Amino acid sequence: MAGIYVHIPFCRKRCTYCDFHFSTTFSRYRDDLISAIVREVKLRKNEILEPIETIYFGGGTPSVLSEKEIRKLVGVVNNSFEISKQVEFTFEVNPEDVTRENAQIWKQAGINRISIGIQSFKESDLKWMNRAHELHQSFEAVDILKKNGFSNISADLIYGLPELNLKEWEQHLQQVIDLDVQHISAYCLTVEKQTALNHFVRTGKLKTPSEELQSDQFNLMLRFLSKKGFNQYEISNFSKPGFDSKHNTSYWLNKPYLGVGPSAHSFEGNKRRWNVSNNTKYYKSVGKNSDWFEEEILSETDQWNELFLTGLRTCWGVSKDNISQLGDFKSAEQDTLKKLIQSGDLIETTDALILSEKGRLKADGIAVMFFRVN
Ligand SMILES: C[S@@+](CC[C@H](N)C(=O)[O-])C[C@H]1O[C@@H](n2cnc3c(N)ncnc32)[C@H](O)[C@@H]1O
Ligand code: SF4
Repeated sequence: MAGIYVHIPFCRKRCTYCDFHFSTTFSRYRDDLISAIVREVKLRKNEILEPIETIYFGGGTPSVLSEKEIRKLVGVVNNSFEISKQVEFTFEVNPEDVTRENAQIWKQAGINRISIGIQSFKESDLKWMNRAHELHQSFEAVDILKKNGFSNISADLIYGLPELNLKEWEQHLQQVIDLDVQHISAYCLTVEKQTALNHFVRTGKLKTPSEELQSDQFNLMLRFLSKKGFNQYEISNFSKPGFDSKHNTSYWLNKPYLGVGPSAHSFEGNKRRWNVSNNTKYYKSVGKNSDWFEEEILSETDQWNELFLTGLRTCWGVSKDNISQLGDFKSAEQDTLKKLIQSGDLIETTDALILSEKGRLKADGIAVMFFRVN
């Protein structure tokens, strides 16, 4: 199984919390950048010879793309690779871009899964976040998507927001349930260094909630969504039966993927590659076919650490086969394992090591306990 990720580094506005790679002043070089992504796909088409099971257009904001741009990008992907008939094709959209016309363009392009950035059900949050949408547009967007035949929709939410209390968070969860979507991604707010949010927090304009309240919100979400029939298949991802994101799952299970566009990452076996996170440098360098990416060969230690970091976040856990392929536990690691099983943080099955509900709250910390140094 293999996947393609296409990064669209354009956004209408700069959300105060976001440090993903994007630009809001892209009109000058928009065509050059799209042509460079097309060129990158062509240059790399022999890197993946097996059928493509998942395509993911992420960003940035893919929903700012015009019909012509979508046709160009989807066309080159379809012509360069063998695409599986059951391909999962996800497109990230922002509520303000969802119109009947756009939904039909997306449908015609073969997109069959939409990830929509709702973020919060509180108008005042959308304001300090500097989102380009108002709350009513979230409801309208999901309605338009459904009316135009999309039956696999994922909604993104953020919790741990300033002034979000438990009761309000429960209301947000109820509102996302009322939207009747098939998948929910809910992330705890991270205050990233180079963001306006960081400035707001440092100057006291916004106050983030305590870690304890964030944990309470996380635990409430686990119980609430489970009662509503959602399975938590990864720390931040919940799905109705049959609606796990195949694309994200393959990242967590270390399957190969090709990432094109500025800042996109690619992975194959023990090789990781990442494109330059600068739009101008990206399109100029791809044009010259030189110097638009860096790559590293992952050592066995890197692979071991990643196995725990990604595997422990999923409901499938870390596979025992993978552990033995990388040389099995050393004696100190065996002791750590025993302690975590005794404390009820980790569950051992015949095939895997899986975090319990209690352990999931500390997933990254527990992964670090198994880390090795190069
Ligand atoms: C890179 S964004 C792209 C999606 C789309 N442009 C949007 O704004 O909805 C992917 C998701 O990451 C999450 N995200 C981005 N920055 C975050 C932060 N600092 N803390 C928590 N979640 C964040 C948001 O939920 C967002 O929907
Ligand atoms: S959250 Fe989405 S729309 Fe906002 S800046 Fe980040 S990528 Fe762009």
